[in-house]
Parts: sequence; C-alpha cells; structure tokens
Amino acid sequence: MDFVKLDVKGGIGRVTIDRQSKLNALNSGVLDELEEVFQSIANNDEIRVIIITGAGEKSFVAGADISQFPSMSPEEAHAFAQRGQSVFSLIESSSKPVIAAITGFALGGGCELALSCHIRYASDNALFGQPEVKLGVIAGYGGTQRLPRLIGRGRALDMLLSGRMVKADEAQQMGLVNGVYPQAELLPKVEEYAEGLLSQGPQAQALTLRAVFEGADSTLSSGLEAEASAFRDVFKTEDRVEGATAFLERRPAKFNNR
Ligand code: COA
Repeated sequence: MDFVKLDVKGGIGRVTIDRQSKLNALNSGVLDELEEVFQSIANNDEIRVIIITGAGEKSFVAGADISQFPSMSPEEAHAFAQRGQSVFSLIESSSKPVIAAITGFALGGGCELALSCHIRYASDNALFGQPEVKLGVIAGYGGTQRLPRLIGRGRALDMLLSGRMVKADEAQQMGLVNGVYPQAELLPKVEEYAEGLLSQGPQAQALTLRAVFEGADSTLSSGLEAEASAFRDVFKTEDRVEGATAFLERRPAKFNNR
C-alpha cells in the first residue's frame, strides 16, 4: 500500500491516509487502497472499531485530487463521482463503528469522507468546507446528500453554495463534529472513546448501525420496522443473554461477539 496504512492494536484498526505532499488529497490510488482496507477490515474479527486519520498535522484530507479535473469529460466526471461515492458508502455501511479523527483541512472529499464516518472528532485547528463552487464544480462524493442530512438543509446549503471554511468550534455547534480537542489531545481522546466502544456489545452496535442507516432514508413507519427487525435479530445473539445476566449479577458484561 502506497497511501493508506492499517495498524491494528487491541481491537482498534487505525486507518491513516498518507499522501502528505498533496495534503492527503484523494487520487484514484488512495480510493482503491481505502476500499481494499475497508474490505479487509470487514473480514477481520480482530478489529472491532475503526479510527480514520490523515497523516501529518496539516490536513485530514484536502479533497478529491483537483489535478484530474481539467481534462475530465462529463461522462468521466459521472464515473469519478460514482467511484468516490461507492468507496465512501462502503465505509458508511461498515458494521463496526468508524470514527474520524480530523486534524487540519477537511475540505471537499475530505469533508465528505468525514461525513461517511459514523462519529467525528476534530482538533481545534480543523477546517471544514465544501469549496467545490470556488472551482466551478459541485460536491460529488456525497456532500450534497450527507451534509444536509447531518446538519440540516439551511446550514448545508450555506457551506455548499458559499464554499466557506468552517472552523472546528462552529463545526461542533452545527453538529458536524461530535467534539473538539486541542491538537495534541485529539488522538489520545479518540482512542479512549474507541476503547469505550469496545466494551459494548458488538452485535448490538452492528444492528444499531443497520437500523439507523436502513431507517435514515425511509418513512418513520418503515424506519420503525427496520428497528423492530434489528431488535428481533439482536435477540438471536448470545451476547444479549450475557448482557442481561451480567446486569442481574452486578458484574461487567463479557461480550463474545456472538
Ligand atoms: N488536489 C490536488 N492537490 C492538492 C489538493 C487537492 N485537492 N489540495 C492541495 N493540493 C496540493 C497543492 O497543489 C500543493 O501541491 P504542490 O506542492 O505540488 O504545488 C500541495 O498540495 C500543498 O498545497 P498548498 O496549496 O501549497 O498548501 P496551502 O497551505 O497553501 O493551502 C489549502 C492549503 C488546503 C487551502 C489549498 O491547498 C487548497 O485550497 N486546496 C484545495 C482544496 C479544495 O478545493 N478541495 C476540494 C477539491 S474538489
């Protein structure tokens, strides 16, 4: 792998995008490797929680690689957007929690990558934006869809139509990130949070993610049916017996992911 590294320690898979000479901008090589890494994570029982970061202190990801834009035909642009969307949808559909740890620039495809993660924490120097309009193009890796769903249409349209950069504290106020830490504390804090997720029921987490994303684009009644069916499926697991028994025996639960 040239651009994407996976380190596994204590149940946590840390995915680092490392193309620092271009502020970790996403070229086709980065997308291919991200896809490969997330496919391997899905089949790796050692990994229960994933953290995504950008290498270096300056940038999470500064966007899709603009150098490809000048020569791109409309048909190629369609395929380009679909390719990024497909990789980001793979990340979003992970049955294991995915946390973005964002330092520096999260622009364009970088903001969209963060949006495809389940939870986002940022350092106090983080800058978010969908600056595509400044280039005369639009967001194409899910920004026009996931951003309004996360922060509301008005706030999303402000970002998408003005291309302005949003600092970490404003991103937190908008609900774009779950929390902000001083840069030096970001990774330790995110790791601590990830460890907290490790002690919860993994099957329950996977079924929660399934219910949330199945329901996200549906009517309330079909979303509630998605929840009821996930609730039924969690009662097929051994972990739910352990969870309730541990509570009644006043001891911490020991989940086996079964
Ligand atoms: N695609 C391709 N290359 C990129 C890039 C991107 N999205 N973002 C940064 N780079 C490259 C620069 O071209 C430069 O390469 P070079 O050293 O070979 O010339 C290198 O990364 C460093 O970027 P630079 O612009 O010199 O850093 P800076 O600190 O002055 O500015 C940014 C940082 C993020 C403000 C600026 O790089 C920028 O605006 N990037 C584009 C952001 C964007 O529009 N993203 C959405 C794309 S659809």
